[in-house]
Amino acid sequence: MKKALFLAMLFALATNQSYTFAFPNLFGDKINKINENIPYKVKDPNLSELGRLAIGIGEKEMPGLMATRKKYGPYKPLANQKVTGSLHMTVETAVLIETLVELGADVRWASCNIFSTQDHAAAAIAKTGVPVYAWKGETLEEYWWCTLQALTFPDDSGPNLIVDDGGDATMLIHKGYELEEFAANNGYVPTIATDNKEEIVVEKLLRNILEKDAQHWHKVVGELIGASEETTTGVHRLLQREQAGTLLFAAYNVNDSVTKSKFDNVYGCRESLADGIKRATDVMIAGKTVVVCGYGEVGKGCAQSMRGYGARVLITEVDPICALQAAMEGFEVVTVEQALEEANIFVTATGNCDIITHEHMLNMLDQAIVCNIGHFDNEIQVEALNQNPNVTKETIKPQVDRYTFADGRQIFVLAEGRLVNLGCATGHPSFVMSNSFTNQVLAQIALAKEVPPVGVYMLPKILDEEVARLHLDHVGVTLTELSDKQADYIGIKKEGPYKAEHYRY
Ligand SMILES: NC(=O)c1ccc[n+]([C@@H]2O[C@H](COP(=O)([O-])OP(=O)(O)OC[C@H]3O[C@@H](n4cnc5c(N)ncnc54)[C@H](O)[C@@H]3O)[C@@H](O)[C@H]2O)c1
Repeated sequence: MKKALFLAMLFALATNQSYTFAFPNLFGDKINKINENIPYKVKDPNLSELGRLAIGIGEKEMPGLMATRKKYGPYKPLANQKVTGSLHMTVETAVLIETLVELGADVRWASCNIFSTQDHAAAAIAKTGVPVYAWKGETLEEYWWCTLQALTFPDDSGPNLIVDDGGDATMLIHKGYELEEFAANNGYVPTIATDNKEEIVVEKLLRNILEKDAQHWHKVVGELIGASEETTTGVHRLLQREQAGTLLFAAYNVNDSVTKSKFDNVYGCRESLADGIKRATDVMIAGKTVVVCGYGEVGKGCAQSMRGYGARVLITEVDPICALQAAMEGFEVVTVEQALEEANIFVTATGNCDIITHEHMLNMLDQAIVCNIGHFDNEIQVEALNQNPNVTKETIKPQVDRYTFADGRQIFVLAEGRLVNLGCATGHPSFVMSNSFTNQVLAQIALAKEVPPVGVYMLPKILDEEVARLHLDHVGVTLTELSDKQADYIGIKKEGPYKAEHYRY
């Protein structure tokens, strides 16, 4: 690093200023070094006090995480573990980060979405000395640079443990490793064969890293124990790799803990979907027709939410079981094509691609609102709309775009098709995230303790029940205790687990 730049950074640190000066080539096609040795990069370090206030409120609503600190903090089960997080840098995540630190971990963090960072939370974490690389409104180049910085410790080594959400950190390591293998075996680097904007950014970054160190990702994998994965889509990616035999390290599937997917995905989305739509548009939901695409966990929460506001809710599904569930709840199950003539709001919640196509959007009602709450932005073909020369786009405010068609009809697309609850609002409330993140911490402890072989694992049911138990007091629950006779009669232990593995809740 140039001396003047280094001195400027020291000055900024000493005076608690933002790194707003330009870094040569920081996020361009060429990175300077794999680890730029920048202590943090956030929007504005001066927001840290606001962030600290919000974190304090979050702690009160996150009893699971606070109890985990109390129980495991004294034993430091994550001592000597380098932990990288790639997960929305929100207030709740700040409470998670500080829990991991309290358990002894050396933590670095990036967000897992370009729009999901709460800048005051990121600033508060940066102030504690945890290297965090995240701000709301990153470009794709910045996003992947941030992920790389979070994955690279000061001596250029990688983490021992990863907290992943959607699998981007896991994917960067796997793709980097595979590129190194290819280059070593073939003596050349393949040309980039995708026209997907984001994939091109990743491929360029990996080629840059390869130039600097042709064994970088092999060394990272060598030291890595494993990852704990937060969300449905990230778990899909892990299982696909496991089935293909290309998974390189162990991973815990946190999403399918009951206290995660049956709570965060359902009740979290039930509140944060409406929050996102309302903050973005202020639109009245009552009386409108809303289409929810996908009636899985997230879709169920979204449909309940919209019905609660007084909307008429239509569902689209490919799975006959979920379609039948929707029908039994009184929702009409249709196709997107059938819904086009009557729907005012479209919400994708499938974790699948091309759910709302370019063609669909061109045929929507005037003033229709289109948004996605699934993990990735490929559920809606926004890029095709952007490329259409007969459509004009205006940005009403950040993360709210209005498209006008040749005949004058207009539609709104929220958060550029990225998850609306984190792009246009602040994600789920703290209490539900306490359930999810307590599972994350338990998975991190399990990885550090067991160092399991390559594979995808679940936390045992007894820990799932423990996570729920930690949240009961907060909502005034009085649990009934089994008598010895009752426990004997149904053939379980009084202290649980209370259900067989196949029970679906
Ligand atoms: N935004 C958030 O806060 C948040 C929270 C949790 C999960 N997620 C993400 O939301 C997405 C959904 O998660 P989930 O837990 O509900 O998954 P899920 O598997 O339970 O549900 C997805 C549903 O979509 C259906 N589906 C698939 N293709 C379809 C198509 N072409 N048309 C209609 N339906 C289709 C599936 O049959 C399934 O029932 C994932 O990407 C997940 O990672 C987001």
